[in-house]
Amino acid sequence: MTPDYSLLNRQLAALLDTRDWLTNSSQTCAFIMQEVPDLNWVGFYLQRAPEMLGLGPFQGKPACHPIPFSKGVCGAAARTHRTQRVDDVHAVADHIACDAASNAELVVPVVVEGRLWGVLDLDSPLRGRFGPEDQAGIEALVATFMAHTDLA
Ligand code: SME
Repeated sequence: MTPDYSLLNRQLAALLDTRDWLTNSSQTCAFIMQEVPDLNWVGFYLQRAPEMLGLGPFQGKPACHPIPFSKGVCGAAARTHRTQRVDDVHAVADHIACDAASNAELVVPVVVEGRLWGVLDLDSPLRGRFGPEDQAGIEALVATFMAHTDLA
């Protein structure tokens, strides 16, 4: 089921009433977890060291940390600065399985002036959960998060 992403975008913009990255990233993943159906994990991984992602604010079970750029779906998004949309993560050789219940994954990079700040990672237990409309919708929510937040 595809949610009304343009409505979600307006609601997220209204929710983000500070410029603080920690508050806004926490609110953004909680909002997505609440409003987008069939997710079991949503969260940010942040670039905290060279070629390495560290776990940031998230909703769901405790997750893998740290993740090198060289590994997994999040690593691919960090390396390429491109959204990764995977129908079945078990078919991806170097997928990092934090939770065996996760089957589909969508990872959107957060790139500020050409530099990676982090990634937003969504996991679903449903194979093929994320279609092109979900990708465009989540990328738009990430753009709204970025526009409302001071990302140094
Ligand atoms: N599956 C991810 C790791 C992060 S967890 O899903 C929360 C990956 O392969 O990058």
